[in-house]
Amino acid sequence: MARTLQKLNLIFLILFIMTIFSFSASSTTAGSFSRTLSPAKLGLKREKLSHLHFYFHDIRTGRNTTAVRVAKAPTTNTSATTFGDVVMIDDLLTERPEPSSKFVGRVQGVYASASQTEVGLLMVLNFAFMEGKYNGSTLTVLGRNPISSTVRELPIVGGSGLFRFARGYAHAKTHTFNMRTMNAVVEYNLYVLHY
Ligand SMILES: *[C@@H]1O[C@H](CO)[C@@H](O)[C@H](O)[C@H]1NC(C)=O
Ligand SMILES: *[C@@H]1O[C@H](CO)[C@@H](O)[C@H](O)[C@H]1NC(C)=O
Ligand SMILES: *[C@@H]1O[C@H](CO)[C@@H](O)[C@H](O)[C@H]1NC(C)=O
Repeated sequence: MARTLQKLNLIFLILFIMTIFSFSASSTTAGSFSRTLSPAKLGLKREKLSHLHFYFHDIRTGRNTTAVRVAKAPTTNTSATTFGDVVMIDDLLTERPEPSSKFVGRVQGVYASASQTEVGLLMVLNFAFMEGKYNGSTLTVLGRNPISSTVRELPIVGGSGLFRFARGYAHAKTHTFNMRTMNAVVEYNLYVLHY
């Protein structure tokens, strides 16, 4: 009886050591923090192409400013291209050029004067949609915006919500720009691939 118990104990001990060994072996294999997943597991079926069209209201001066300068270089004032200017925005997006037209969301981010040879902006923008089926979803744009060109193309680098895995491009076209107030209305067309 005692011998049998001893044998059983030995077997358990061996099993225990083997378990520990296999755990430590698996945790040291490469890729223990990552795995390959089938797209179906995330509910990803067919990629689709969507077109979004709206107007962006950039208000630099007046009562309801939505764009504020947060930094500039000592040389920005004397730069013909405002090189070094950094502006933080929380601009409204509407369906039509009139600010009173239907609100579709906000664009929050930063633009900065990044060119010494023309007025060319570095745009870092999150478009947060707040209307219809895209309410709560976002698209992120990171690109170059030489504002004197009629149509500027900026890459869409990602998104969230219904725009997960998004990629594409945005076309920005100035609708109105007031040189005195610096306020602008910009027409945006976004072409985006997403699931
Ligand atoms: C500023 O916002 C208020 C409240 O939304 C609005 O009533 C007013 O017309 C706006 N003023 C301008 C100059 O857009
Ligand atoms: C630069 O321009 C801003 C706005 O036009 C003005 O308030 C500021 O005093 C100027 N700074 C210098 C150093 O000229
Ligand atoms: C968008 O979603 C927010 C949060 O769920 C909700 O409060 C809001 O009413 C929605 N807006 C529209 C226009 O459906």
